Amino acid sequence: MPSTSRLLHRLSLIAALLCAHASAEQRSLSQGWLFKAGPVPEAQRAAFDDKGWRRITVPHDFSIMDKADGSPPFDAKAVGGQDSGYLPGGQGWYRHRLDLSAADAARVLRLNFEAVYMNADIWLNGEHVGNHRYGYTAFTLDLTGKARAGENVIVVRVNHVDPSSRWYAGSGLIRPVTLDLLDPVHIAPDSVFVTTPVATAERGDVQVSAGIANRGKSPARVELISTVVGTSDAALAQARRQLTVAARGSVDVTQRLAVPQPKLWSPDAPNLYTLVQEVRVDGVVKDVRRTRFGIRTVTADATNGLRINGRKVLLRGGNIHHDNYMLGAAGSPDADARKVALMKQAGYNAIRSAHNPASQATLRAADELGMLVIDEAFDMWRISKRDADSSRFFDSDWRQDIDSLVTSGRNHPSVLFWSVGNEIPEQGTPAGARTARELAARIRRLDPTRPVTQGVNMDTPHNAVQFAELDVAGYNYRAHLFGSDHLTHPARVMYTSESTSKDAFRYWDPVETMPWVIGDFVWTSFDYLGETGIGWMGYSQDWKQLGAYPWHLAYCGEIDATGRKRPAAFYRQVLWKTGIDPVAAFVEQPPGTADLPDRDMFKTHPELDWSLEDLHPSWSWRGQEGKPLKVVVYSEHPEVELFLNGRSLGRRAVDRATAYKTDYRVPYAAGRLVAVGYRDGKPAASWELRTAGAPAAITLQADRQQVRANGEDLVYVSAALVDSDGAPVYAQGGDRHVTVTVKGAGTLAGAGNGNPMDASSLQSGRRSTFHGRLVAVVRAGTDAGPIDVEFAAQGLPVQRVRIDAVAR
Ligand code: GAL
Repeated sequence: MPSTSRLLHRLSLIAALLCAHASAEQRSLSQGWLFKAGPVPEAQRAAFDDKGWRRITVPHDFSIMDKADGSPPFDAKAVGGQDSGYLPGGQGWYRHRLDLSAADAARVLRLNFEAVYMNADIWLNGEHVGNHRYGYTAFTLDLTGKARAGENVIVVRVNHVDPSSRWYAGSGLIRPVTLDLLDPVHIAPDSVFVTTPVATAERGDVQVSAGIANRGKSPARVELISTVVGTSDAALAQARRQLTVAARGSVDVTQRLAVPQPKLWSPDAPNLYTLVQEVRVDGVVKDVRRTRFGIRTVTADATNGLRINGRKVLLRGGNIHHDNYMLGAAGSPDADARKVALMKQAGYNAIRSAHNPASQATLRAADELGMLVIDEAFDMWRISKRDADSSRFFDSDWRQDIDSLVTSGRNHPSVLFWSVGNEIPEQGTPAGARTARELAARIRRLDPTRPVTQGVNMDTPHNAVQFAELDVAGYNYRAHLFGSDHLTHPARVMYTSESTSKDAFRYWDPVETMPWVIGDFVWTSFDYLGETGIGWMGYSQDWKQLGAYPWHLAYCGEIDATGRKRPAAFYRQVLWKTGIDPVAAFVEQPPGTADLPDRDMFKTHPELDWSLEDLHPSWSWRGQEGKPLKVVVYSEHPEVELFLNGRSLGRRAVDRATAYKTDYRVPYAAGRLVAVGYRDGKPAASWELRTAGAPAAITLQADRQQVRANGEDLVYVSAALVDSDGAPVYAQGGDRHVTVTVKGAGTLAGAGNGNPMDASSLQSGRRSTFHGRLVAVVRAGTDAGPIDVEFAAQGLPVQRVRIDAVAR
């Protein structure tokens, strides 16, 4: 085609896409919900009087909310105990008034819940329209023909019976709720599946399958136009198909498109495309569906390891749970995305979504930022781990839950493997193998392109029973088996699905030296609510003391609950040779300092101890003058030198033989401690810790200056104490009580400090700093205007930050 006509052709494609008016629509139902905790008789009735119910925003977690009297929700007697972070489950009711025009009420209506924890029952105008039990899978209710013009009342009852989980699960509408309004002729939303069987620099083959549904009373002559568009919205490839869809019928269509010279997706270059599918009947656009995807291939074998687009990738992985600390389990899209972004910034390139399907926001952020995801289905199958957990309905529900996992995740290029489960009690038995086979078969039917895996904590030879059913073998805490298992199973692709942070080197070294070991996922990259105190004491300690109330965080996260990197995260950056902080130095807390809870580690169990080292980014140890303190230096560079107040404390070689670290004993004197890394004999990087005086100011940093006035966008404002020279105040009595107030076009969604023992309110805005820091989360309202966030720290000048909420 000559270039002008090619241009015209392109323009006409673009014009066609732009003209495609929104015949199909998706509405966010984040606003307008009323909530009441506890059993509320008759609340499902449309006419029920809900005056006095609390107005809330979805996603919402009622377990994290302060009690009616304003006291914090943590309770030493909570049934979930240590598992749930001493937070309760219980019943909760949600009511939403949905106004529909007559035209809208006559459309195909699909009410989508991304996750409700758990045992949800749903009513529309008093009629029971559905239920869903597993708390982490998306489900849709077909309300077509059931809604009326005018006001409709949607009611959801959540019945979270404790104990249901080994970690903090939260309760309620924990992920987004949306409503699809469609024409009778439409693309069945879950039917779309985009794969890219060929992905080279020259050519990307895009294979699309989709189901076209006709809910109308007469057959429809349909044209399906599928177009691949790039970031500039230019149409890069198009396929058209004419078909007839019978009345109340559906037709499956497969199309193949070729994108010339595609920009491939990989963790280092997360290039994305959008498939725009348009359905026309008699030339009129009836549905437009946009599906974002990436062009990439994935292979894994024991000789070449994991390869994306033919290039080897080592999985620098972290396990995460779904909670967002100060927001509880509310999976607000910005909060979920922030976790992914902070992990990416810390050098991780992979996430294991432990032990349940990841949210769409997590997957979207992973697509955009270049994170690979192991998307996991279950923590248990038929044999329970807790009395009221999801094993109760595994038999009846697993098919729908697996289908939901796969159909909602399979178009995300970030999704690498499907995991059928974690430390499943029946693993290694014939029953365990049979279930894995069934689950894997169902997954492969919906997505034959991705390997199926499982996190298995069994020794050889028992693990072989389970691994025989899987494509890739996930080992929990078993680096010692990688050599010997390879001899007996040379074709097995292995990775560490869970490891202890303190053993980072031992788990990473095989990834670099054994081609069949493709990665390591630490437990955990991000701190989380529940499993309290596992990062604090080893298993040899008295279980009754382990994580006793007021502990509520696990405290094993390499990034703390507020998003701050702890020393273990810096070590990992060095091990992984990320170049992010090539040299970093931290100080072991000396005995006699009263800086709870980062002290008195018990490192007793060689494999199972999730505690981190008692190291701190601080050179402020008043009272320790002249005493030798242990300073640990991590370095990517082959030599390091430590200086105290300009005086050298010696130069050391650092390499694989020293596990990329070295430690010094340094007699404490206030001042500046500087670590310098050398490459080729020349200084290449440095790191400084400064002794801080008393706090003189609180400094604020907002992660964005502008939000959309959509009632959902979040801003994270981090506050840090500094002394009169601007040095960060970390410890030693420096912490201050702070009151955070939000005025104007937003509200305070939560505030937290990462202190695993500070069980004070996460919503009141009154909280102390921890290690000199506090993070507040501000949510945009639905009106545009300025949002003023004020931090008043005891005895210090008030600080303010202004954020603009702009019209959507
Ligand atoms: C593992 C388990 C994780 C977490 C971790 C730390 O065995 O799979 O979910 O419980 O131990 O306790």
